[in-house]
Amino acid sequence: MAFNTEQIIGREHIDDIEGILSVSNTDVAEALHAVRSNYDTIFSWSYDKGNRPKLNRLYEKAKTSMWNAETDLAWDTVVDQSKLVAEQKLLMGPPLRTYVDLKGTAFERWGDREWDQLAIESQNWTLSQFMHGEQGALVCTAKVVESVPWIDAKYYGATQVMDEARHVEVFAKYLDEKLSGHYPINAHLKMLLDDIIVDSRWDMTFLGMQIMVEGLALAAFGFMHAMTTEPLLKQLLRYVMSDEARHVAFGVLALQDYYGELSGPEIRDRQEFAFEAAVRMRDRFLQQEVWERMGVPPRDVIPLTLAAPDRAMFQSMLFAKIVPNLKKLGLLDAGDGWLRTKFTELGVIQWENLSDTEEEYAAFQLAEGERATT
Ligand SMILES: [Fe+2]
Ligand SMILES: [Fe+2]
Repeated sequence: MAFNTEQIIGREHIDDIEGILSVSNTDVAEALHAVRSNYDTIFSWSYDKGNRPKLNRLYEKAKTSMWNAETDLAWDTVVDQSKLVAEQKLLMGPPLRTYVDLKGTAFERWGDREWDQLAIESQNWTLSQFMHGEQGALVCTAKVVESVPWIDAKYYGATQVMDEARHVEVFAKYLDEKLSGHYPINAHLKMLLDDIIVDSRWDMTFLGMQIMVEGLALAAFGFMHAMTTEPLLKQLLRYVMSDEARHVAFGVLALQDYYGELSGPEIRDRQEFAFEAAVRMRDRFLQQEVWERMGVPPRDVIPLTLAAPDRAMFQSMLFAKIVPNLKKLGLLDAGDGWLRTKFTELGVIQWENLSDTEEEYAAFQLAEGERATT
């Protein structure tokens, strides 16, 4: 059965700010969060390594690409977050107050101190969400190892579990040692991770995590890697991206084989899930928790931030890896091309002809001389 936009994302219009802000975290003080999953753990008695040669190649690559978060990164780098914010200002284009009239808004009384604090909070928030997303990847990949029926995919998945542990580790360490505060997980990201984990179909874990969440992460890390002037963060992101590209390629390879076997209605289910995930990820970038911490009402200020001239471009850029991969999987145009229509509404369809990650993942590998000696 096909669903409409409201049934899929809980609101009729994608840009309905009230609808977006109506989702917020209620249990931020809890130290643990339990999600009951319901899926079959699959044993495979076929141990023929290399039955799926591309997955096998990826597994062999992963084995030799492991790095050590403690010893390969320059943790002795001194990070001055205020100085970085000042440098970032020059790179990131004109601040809000130069293109929107802030008279009569919650920002009216803000001076340099508040704007600088906003930039610092924003960085703390962004890295915190990366860390939480990485933990989502860690648990989802563990689930993949259990639920995927092919031995080559279980082998590869096991290497990814290790990669993700390292990613959680580096973001947590960077936040603790180099930045100035943590944020709880964003409500939209949490909702998405919960949805991915709850689903009993193994391929939905791949689609939600490897294609959507990690596809977005690859683009977002790439953007931050290009923009940051902080050498440790640059190095950290470079290392994480070299793994992330392989993870997204894993999703593309696994699903390509499987989607050919699915019926029209089953494919439509996947299209709807991809759309839902895309909207959740877009919603999270409104960073409502930052506004709350800065003491300004999110519903008053978010419409102002959306008016930024480069906002639409930034938002759409996050999907630069996702759209070509969904196209390669046939999800963009399957059935009546429903997902193409939805991605056109979201303003992200222009990326469809970029390289997919199965084609380009090797380009992200760390070069010989680039690896620190351990
Ligand atoms: Fe990761
Ligand atoms: Fe990953």
